[in-house]
Amino acid sequence: MLHLILTIFFCITGVANVYGGTTVVVPDTMAERVRACTICHSAEDKAGRDAYYPRIAGKPQGYLFNQLRNFRDGRRYYQPMVTLLENMSDEYLLEIARYFSSLQLPYPEPERIRMLPEEIKMAERLIYSGNPDKDIPPCSACHGAALMGVEPAIPALFGVSRAYIAAQLSGWRKGSIMRSRTPDCMSEIAKQLSDDEANVIAKWLASQPVTGESRPFSALLPELTHRCSQIIPVNGEMQ
Ligand code: HEC
Ligand code: HEC
Repeated sequence: MLHLILTIFFCITGVANVYGGTTVVVPDTMAERVRACTICHSAEDKAGRDAYYPRIAGKPQGYLFNQLRNFRDGRRYYQPMVTLLENMSDEYLLEIARYFSSLQLPYPEPERIRMLPEEIKMAERLIYSGNPDKDIPPCSACHGAALMGVEPAIPALFGVSRAYIAAQLSGWRKGSIMRSRTPDCMSEIAKQLSDDEANVIAKWLASQPVTGESRPFSALLPELTHRCSQIIPVNGEMQ
């Protein structure tokens, strides 16, 4: 494990490594510097969408930047990433976010998940209509009509695994695992979901084919932007 971490560290700093007397000069490009990241966030998607590691290619730049700062500053927890990010400046994290956001990689096949008709109905109702009684807006109002995210800080809900989505919702709902700034719009919304609702949403999202594109900031209603004011600046510009 230590060996892996050290290898990752040297790769990420772009330092020339010496193996058995031969100096291997690593070209200093962003693709090389983030090679350590692609061990987990790879183009190949490892074991397909069953893998827990989330896809980050093509996600909005501001969203990726926020997450990298969250991990570095202890607002989101996953030790191997904290170790990699702890000494990086905001400027460098923004460069990394820009790089991954610009990557266009093919999406994996949808997961094959068996769902009962009433489960599909429950998931689609929450996702596209919300539940006004519990103050849950439609997920599509913030994540975009195609659920492919809204610039600059709201991610797509497609292209990540059921296990990952379920874990994120559960983290917010239980409040035990740190995830982002709290309270925030997602933690408030997730806390209103029952176990069954969170479960069917994760199943439904992971079993859909990925189509469509992210939406511009202007697609968001001001009251929804306001609800996420810890995350999305009101004018849509990231600091
Ligand atoms: C050892 C595997 C591993 C390595 C190496 C790794 N990550 Fe991660 N990354 C993860 C896991 C697992 C998560 C999800 C953690 C969680 O449960 O919140 C994650 C989450 C993320 C997220 C948030 C994704 C989202 O949709 O919210 C970003 C952005 C990210 N990683 C970027 C990076 C970058 C950049 C690097 C390299 C500096 C890196 N990761 C290295 C495993 C890894
Ligand atoms: C008021 C706006 C809003 C609504 C409504 C909303 N979301 Fe979100 N969602 C966000 C924001 C903002 C983020 C980014 C959070 C962060 O930066 O940590 C997010 C992030 C997420 C993520 C994390 C994705 C990843 O890659 O880690 C999931 C999963 C998610 N939302 C699911 C849902 C579901 C399911 C619904 C409907 C029940 C929903 N959201 C409704 C604003 C919203």
